[in-house]
Amino acid sequence: MNLRTTIAIVGAGPAGLLLGHLLAKAGIDFVIIESRSREYILGRIRAGVLEESSVEVLAKLGLDGRLKQHGLVHDGIYLQFEGTRHHVDFAELIGRTVTVYGQQQVVDDLMLAHDELGSAIYFDSGDVMPKDVETPRPSVDFGHGGIRYSVEADFIVGADGFHGVCRSIIPASEITSFERDYPFAWLGILANVAPSTDELIYALHPDGFAMHSMRSPEVSRLYLQVDPDDDIGNWSDERIWAGLHERLGLDGWTLNEGEITEKSITPMRSFVASTMNYGTLFLAGDAGHIVPPTGAKGLNSAISDVAMLGAALTAYYAGDSGPLSTYSDRALSRQWKTQYFSRWMTDMLHTSGTGTEAEFRYRGQVGQLEYVTGSERALAVLAEQYTGLPIEGV
Ligand code: FAD
Ligand code: DHB
Repeated sequence: MNLRTTIAIVGAGPAGLLLGHLLAKAGIDFVIIESRSREYILGRIRAGVLEESSVEVLAKLGLDGRLKQHGLVHDGIYLQFEGTRHHVDFAELIGRTVTVYGQQQVVDDLMLAHDELGSAIYFDSGDVMPKDVETPRPSVDFGHGGIRYSVEADFIVGADGFHGVCRSIIPASEITSFERDYPFAWLGILANVAPSTDELIYALHPDGFAMHSMRSPEVSRLYLQVDPDDDIGNWSDERIWAGLHERLGLDGWTLNEGEITEKSITPMRSFVASTMNYGTLFLAGDAGHIVPPTGAKGLNSAISDVAMLGAALTAYYAGDSGPLSTYSDRALSRQWKTQYFSRWMTDMLHTSGTGTEAEFRYRGQVGQLEYVTGSERALAVLAEQYTGLPIEGV
């Protein structure tokens, strides 16, 4: 069956769903094609921290009803090392905050608002294939409910994540991938227990990194640095709690335990594509870049990309093609800053190596953390980046 739309979006993660809302607001027609089911997407537990600029993007679209009600506004974070916990007060340093609100909740809010709009979202699609993106008449072919569709559009947006199909159709001569793997991964748990902290704790410990985050006043989210080739089967609930007590422990402070409802291991990677535009194809979010999670930037970068792309497409249909022609450069310019920050936070807080090599690294990290927590200027540099750089052109 042949369909026609203005923008064909591949992927119904946060990037694709949010772009749909930005286009709807501008009166631009779109369809979203997604390979997974709605339930599967809502079941994926991922990021948890929204930059202030991300909250502003959602608020401008009126998509912040539940976010305002249930999001936990945090004035700062804690950095912990060598048995001491230091508060980094973003509000005091630079007058900005972050909001703790799970990616699943963001995605649920975006999906419910699409239900109200009656948006065309094809979940459970198979063999999704973008075509003719070198031409002004690109299309996406896909199977859905036993029918083969071809949707023709002015532009295709690849919001289909790191493993998606869109980036892969760009000829190798037109794109370069910059990548860096890390010798560690995160074991993340969700636990039915009230958070033991008012704000997130990022901890460096000789055994490795640990973090205490949360999803609500009743649900905690915690992470432990593990080897990238470790198996979740090796980690009993008891072993996980013991590791968290050891790495997060402080005199006079107790980590509350609760029932673990989810546990998984996620490898870490830095990845940036050299371009986010090829012909009539634009990439957004994880399709164009991946960061290690220590700076809480994956979801926020997806939001900043589509905020820029949505504004650029809106300008295009109002007669100004300038912003669309510079989208890739502007998104990548913000992204490389985010890449550096995420790598810096990751390197500062994760241990690696053995013997004196490991000790050399650890002592340098303690030095860096002592410097950062002891310098108002350095703290402000961290605060500015953690709470989110400006989104240009939005
Ligand atoms: P995605 O959320 O990946 O969405 C892409 C969508 O495209 C998916 O729904 C996928 O099913 C769909 N798709 C893929 N291929 C196709 C195809 N061929 N056809 C149609 N649809 C397709 N970030 C943090 O900041 N903190 C964290 O703690 C954190 N934890 C994470 C844990 C995991 C396991 C992962 C994978 C990521 C994590 N991230 C984290 C990163 C953050 O979740 C992502 O940056 C964010 O989801 C990016 O949104 P997106 O919409 O670009 O991509
Ligand atoms: C969470 C994830 C992150 O990557 C991070 O830096 C902070 C919090 C979270 O899942 O809550």
